[in-house]
Amino acid sequence: MTTLDRRHFFDQLRARIRLSEIVSRQVKLIRRGREYTGLCPFHTEKSPSFTVNDQKSFYHCFGCGAHGDALKFLMEIEKYSYREALEELAQKAGLEVPQYVPSKEAERFNNDFYSIVEETVRYFEGSLQKSPGAFARDYLEKRGMTPSTISKFRLGFSPDTRYGLLEHLKSKKFPLESIIELGLGIQPEGGKAPYDRFRGRLMFPIFNFQEKPVAFGGRILGEGEPKYLNSPENPLFHKGSLLFNFPNARKSQTEPLLIVEGYMDVIAMDQAGFGSVVAPMGTALTEEQIQLAWRLDPQPIICFDGDLAGQKAALRAADRALPLLKAGHTLRFAFLPKGQDPDSLLRQGQRKVFENLIAAPMPLVDLLWKTLIPAQGRLTPENIALLEKRIDEEVNKIEDDSLKQHFRYDLRGRFFTEYSSKNKRDKNNEAKKLHNSNLLLNSSSNFYIIQQKLLLATVVNHPHILREVVEDLANLEIQDEQMQNLRDDLLSGATDETNESTQALKDFLILKGHQDALTILASETLLTHGAFARESSELEEARRGWQEVYYHHLERKRLEEEIELATKSLAEAPSQEVWDQVKALKEALIQLSLKE
Ligand code: UTP
Ligand code: MN
Repeated sequence: MTTLDRRHFFDQLRARIRLSEIVSRQVKLIRRGREYTGLCPFHTEKSPSFTVNDQKSFYHCFGCGAHGDALKFLMEIEKYSYREALEELAQKAGLEVPQYVPSKEAERFNNDFYSIVEETVRYFEGSLQKSPGAFARDYLEKRGMTPSTISKFRLGFSPDTRYGLLEHLKSKKFPLESIIELGLGIQPEGGKAPYDRFRGRLMFPIFNFQEKPVAFGGRILGEGEPKYLNSPENPLFHKGSLLFNFPNARKSQTEPLLIVEGYMDVIAMDQAGFGSVVAPMGTALTEEQIQLAWRLDPQPIICFDGDLAGQKAALRAADRALPLLKAGHTLRFAFLPKGQDPDSLLRQGQRKVFENLIAAPMPLVDLLWKTLIPAQGRLTPENIALLEKRIDEEVNKIEDDSLKQHFRYDLRGRFFTEYSSKNKRDKNNEAKKLHNSNLLLNSSSNFYIIQQKLLLATVVNHPHILREVVEDLANLEIQDEQMQNLRDDLLSGATDETNESTQALKDFLILKGHQDALTILASETLLTHGAFARESSELEEARRGWQEVYYHHLERKRLEEEIELATKSLAEAPSQEVWDQVKALKEALIQLSLKE
């Protein structure tokens, strides 16, 4: 195709695609005049600086500078390959992706490799219908597979002959070398004749994103080892980059996406109407597979056997996912009754059990918590320290800063609740401790005033952040009256475009009579407590510092409110349980203060 054709195609595409429609699959957009705005998916923010312009067909983030078109968005956020993104958009626009003139190499690839696997699928499908396939047909019937399911998944049978497939492919003039490279034939050492890899097995073809078959899983009929034989990695098939049934799941209208362990589970579930289901192929979920799953559903549910092996597998998946987690994107877990998989549950008519399980999946944070706790035994000081260390180790695997904070608070909160219920001491002792903790907390409140000032200094020195955090700033409880007034004027000035530079913002504040407060905020006494708040700090550093301190405040507020409630109910109806609760909450508050 010529450059002109190419340009024409892209012009057409741009004209017919509404970028906002593509983006809104991932980002909640609000219309603002000719543009749309929303929270930027490329960085963490609390107020929208991400804009989408349908006329110009591009998005732009004023916060992090991310910029691009629909293709780039699909590739970076939805993890499509270039080709897939192009095809998806072309389909939406009702256009054909122009065929590039294939190179000699690509031609060989297409003609040989893909056709060989396709021909193999046909051969196995055919064999299933012939007389040696009778046993396999019975087996499928016994396992409840309907003829339409069999043809939808293109299931087949590999006859128990040494050269059946190889002879067939040779008769079609496919080069032996390619057949071996695809792993369909095995070349023994010492120059003996190559033979079929799959013999006497029920065959499950594996399809790539373009719905072309690229590999197989072959199940033994009855008992025996190995139960499943899979195609080796080959030029068309990288096990860790594909999910079994991905193309069907993509087309399916059902929700949520379920990730199961086996071929049979996927097929049984599809037949039962849960079309949005995929499986890795005999290995632990890879990072790539998690990203792939997120393309279909940001919170897929992993269904595992409830036995020890299943729990371990769930944990491995969680561990893989931690570094990848981002706002809204996670894994959820459903543990089936011991010894069951989705296929066996459905076949026993336990559909309801299964539905209930996936209606209330376990969040990832619960799974983490469950695995941290049993290692402890008695909560001695040494064990508490260990548990704390392990919480930090897990949480530090999360790369997204804001999520990291949320996980840490959540897990630490659970930790203190657990701690309190396991340590029962006599009341006198308790009372003394509570008294002491009050003292400690009061003395730490100075620290909070310092932190509030740091938050204010940060936004004065970085007006850009001010605009991102307007709402949070409005909710912040500030003890110091002088600072409170400054905050109120900051909020009223934040929307004024002329205050975009630090100097302009300061001039505005001075005009409002905040010279003294500004001097305090710029003082070395204050800024030694938090370098991020300085005017000279990097925007990203300042932003992170702001968030850290702000979340700290939120957590403190939550704890204080809970303490007040619990103390009230303790006064009305004293009980050991509430007593323990108050103690745990105060302990948590102390720990929070000590963390600084
Ligand atoms: P399972 O042993 O749970 O099998 O392995 P299954 O899918 O439930 O199959 P049925 O119900 O016994 O027929 C789960 C998945 O692990 C991979 C396969 O992908 C299988 O679907 N596996 C298992 C292998 O690759 N090789 C094996 O030997 C066993
Ligand atoms: Mn099974």
